Amino acid sequence: MEQAQQQTLKKNLFSAIQPSGNITLGNYVGALRNFVLLHEDYNCLFCVADLHALTLRHDPAELRRNSLSLIALYIACGLDPEKNIIYCQSHVPEHAQLSWVLNCFTYMGELSRMTQFKDKSQKHADNINAGLFTYPVLMAADILLYQTHVVPVGVDQKQHLEICRDIAGRFNGIYGDVFTIPEGYIPKSTAKIMSLADPTRKMSKSDGEDSYVAVLDAPDVIRRKFKRAVTDSEADIRFDPENKPGVSNLLSILAAVRNSTPEAEAQALQGLGYGALKEATAEAVIDTLRPIQERYAELIRDKDALNQILRTNADRAHAIALRTLRKVYKKIGLYQP
Ligand code: TRP
Repeated sequence: MEQAQQQTLKKNLFSAIQPSGNITLGNYVGALRNFVLLHEDYNCLFCVADLHALTLRHDPAELRRNSLSLIALYIACGLDPEKNIIYCQSHVPEHAQLSWVLNCFTYMGELSRMTQFKDKSQKHADNINAGLFTYPVLMAADILLYQTHVVPVGVDQKQHLEICRDIAGRFNGIYGDVFTIPEGYIPKSTAKIMSLADPTRKMSKSDGEDSYVAVLDAPDVIRRKFKRAVTDSEADIRFDPENKPGVSNLLSILAAVRNSTPEAEAQALQGLGYGALKEATAEAVIDTLRPIQERYAELIRDKDALNQILRTNADRAHAIALRTLRKVYKKIGLYQP
């Protein structure tokens, strides 16, 4: 079949990650790795959500560096910037433009119910800005611009996808079928990677240096972090998240990178101590990340090539986004000469 014809038969998939630096092993196992499995079956857009990153105080130089780094990481993980569209949100002006329009179709009440807004305004009480509040509207614009059918989301973003569907449905109800209503996609492998310092919490870079493994951590750093990982005072290796969260988390990580099950890994390590479990996990993680890190190092060295990819991919995204935005402007009565 012609490639163009195939493209129209495939459904559209949109996903984005904020360029907040240090993409973790949890991000890789829970998101990036699954994107690679999906990228042949859908028309995919993978976006670096740099505009969303502005909702918290940030360092400009760091944001710039992290954005380019995330683009390189997407590609290093196996996503293809020719088959998919890999780009920065701020390079496509339609995101901000549609976001304004959708703001006028979103209620204060529904935004006030967002748990992430409540969490973040508690954590950053000195900077509860309007962008933090309307964050889900920009996210809805991201998704709706591309007539997205599926959005891979973790649990923390489910509520934002729900509000996106509500906004789209409301708009369509008034103006006819303008937007595709997106569905969430919960990946089959749902290995949840927890913090190494507090295995009852999700692995996150906000929990301190030793609590997470970054995809770009050097092997020695990874070894050190696993050595310090919290376990318990017993000695037997068994998968029991309830009573042995630390040991179970290590088994989950080991299983995730080896595509096995935590129970099988526990079985294989019978009779050995926690030191062996930690070492096995560290080495398996290092082996999994090695090819990604090598590819990343090559890519990040050639900034011109990355810039070229960013330009062509932004153009491709822009062409699709503009079609939706024009339709919206026309429907709502913005006069176009
Ligand atoms: N808010 C998402 C996060 O922090 C990132 C994001 C922005 C996103 N726009 C999106 C995710 C659109 C899915 C679809 O994880």
